[in-house]
Amino acid sequence: MNLQNLVIATHNKGKVREINDLLAPFGVKVKSALDMDLPEPEETENSFAGNALLKARAAASVSGMTALADDSGLEVFALGGEPGIYSARWAENPETKIRDFAFAMNKVKNRLEALKTSDYSARFVCVLALVTPDGEEQIFEGEVRGHLEFPPRGENGFGYDPIFVANGETITFGEMDPAKKHEMSHRADAFKKLVNSVFKS
Ligand code: IMP
Repeated sequence: MNLQNLVIATHNKGKVREINDLLAPFGVKVKSALDMDLPEPEETENSFAGNALLKARAAASVSGMTALADDSGLEVFALGGEPGIYSARWAENPETKIRDFAFAMNKVKNRLEALKTSDYSARFVCVLALVTPDGEEQIFEGEVRGHLEFPPRGENGFGYDPIFVANGETITFGEMDPAKKHEMSHRADAFKKLVNSVFKS
């Protein structure tokens, strides 16, 4: 697969910067869907892989370049994997209409308390989809396992980081040094698999 020029199928500037930094050592030049004015398709599939593929296929077909997309989220085992692909949507507060992760974390806590379960185990998942304009497709899935603790702690990171404690750790991702989180995260795991498959084979 020729990966010299790659379009990142996201309008999120933070994600583009992070992916650019991860792939620069391999001589990959990255453009974002925003730079190229590509449309952002609605995430209509029912799995991380389905949504990542949908975004990468759309970007590859419009740009004529190889495209990389990711989809990620938090799966809570006692909640049957919820919020899962709806992780961002759980943060939409119906009253304020703004994305509010304090609201989302509280929803997770209330759901767990209602079940009266002591199983607070959870994982973050990240799926990367790489699609060429001629239809070659590869998927890489990364995860980090851990458990949830309440109330939320820490100002670092984003999303559900303040309630997630990775296995072997005592502090939440919200309290952890970002460099350390980036080494052990679901995104790092998925990227390691991509790099091993695409650049080291
Ligand atoms: P997306 O992959 O941009 O669709 O993001 C999915 C959602 O999953 C984010 O809005 C966060 O709520 C959650 N999420 C994904 N990765 C992380 C993470 O590393 N920390 C905290 N929350 C995350």
